[in-house]
Amino acid sequence: MLFENEIAKVGYLSRSVPEGIDLKEAILKMKVEKNAVILAHYYVSEDIQSIADFVGDSLALAQASKKQSSDIIVFCGVHFMAETAKILNPNTKVLLPDLNAGCSLADSAPEADFIAFKNQYPDAIVVSYINCSSEIKAQSDYICTSSNAIDIVNSIPKDKQIIFAPDKNLGMFVQKVTGRKLILWDGACIVHVNISMDKLNALQLAHPDAELIAHPECLPELLNKASFIGSTSALLNHVQSSTSDKFIVATEAGILYKMKQSVPNKRLIPAPANEQNTCACAECPYMKMNTLEKLYNALYYELPEIHLTEKVRVPAYKALKAMLELSK
Ligand code: 13P
Ligand code: SF4
Repeated sequence: MLFENEIAKVGYLSRSVPEGIDLKEAILKMKVEKNAVILAHYYVSEDIQSIADFVGDSLALAQASKKQSSDIIVFCGVHFMAETAKILNPNTKVLLPDLNAGCSLADSAPEADFIAFKNQYPDAIVVSYINCSSEIKAQSDYICTSSNAIDIVNSIPKDKQIIFAPDKNLGMFVQKVTGRKLILWDGACIVHVNISMDKLNALQLAHPDAELIAHPECLPELLNKASFIGSTSALLNHVQSSTSDKFIVATEAGILYKMKQSVPNKRLIPAPANEQNTCACAECPYMKMNTLEKLYNALYYELPEIHLTEKVRVPAYKALKAMLELSK
């Protein structure tokens, strides 16, 4: 079996997709043949979002992965998201089209450093943002996402110390809203902290009628200016329910695909990033590693697959379950 896998791996690494095929059609056909489901985060490319079975934010994706009954989950997102799906579905084959699709937040918290940090506060409850490795999840009491971080922290008795990791910006936001003092790990999302305040200020001057909405991974100085702060799903819901018809959207630009579909008559302006890139907006390089070609190959070769040891998966599941129970 291992031998076959190794051959498949060599094939996977060296082969490009067949020429002249309609990739979307081929992926959809193979998905049915293999009883697979495609889950995608809002930050992946439009072509992948357009053929995914489910597109959502981190919480909705974790909940969706738990509900599915397919033989294969292809996770078009980043590594920690595919790991989360595997933690919740140990008997399902979970594929990530590019194993290098990481996350700066997950990378900021190596296991040994985190254990040393945690040992300084032996009585603290550990709340970890879902953007962390399975090893960090296994060291945590609760997982949270940007959708439920405030509720999770509020559910913990007031006399308990809380370690919040790894996103210090989300942590500071939660601290401000809940009034709880949190022990913060020093991690950040390279995409959200790279939104340019100078360019944003200029944009706001040019569009004084636009509502600034932001993801809580942004820097505090940006969040202080925002009229609405929420997860990607919350931002999407907000543009629908708000009476405003113009928004500056301070998060990864992939969300604009679903936003445009849901409010075609409203004006949506992506918040500008420091460096000029293809769209001059905030783009996650890891999320953009997912391509139709890699998705095709992942389904074809059933690789690369996420593997976890039970030693890590079981305690990580406990922390995830604690979150899912509080977020029904
Ligand atoms: P949400 O999906 O919770 O909005 O988080 C955004 C993000 O950065 C995912 O990596
Ligand atoms: Fe990680 Fe930020 Fe990319 Fe989300 S947008 S995957 S938090 S680097």
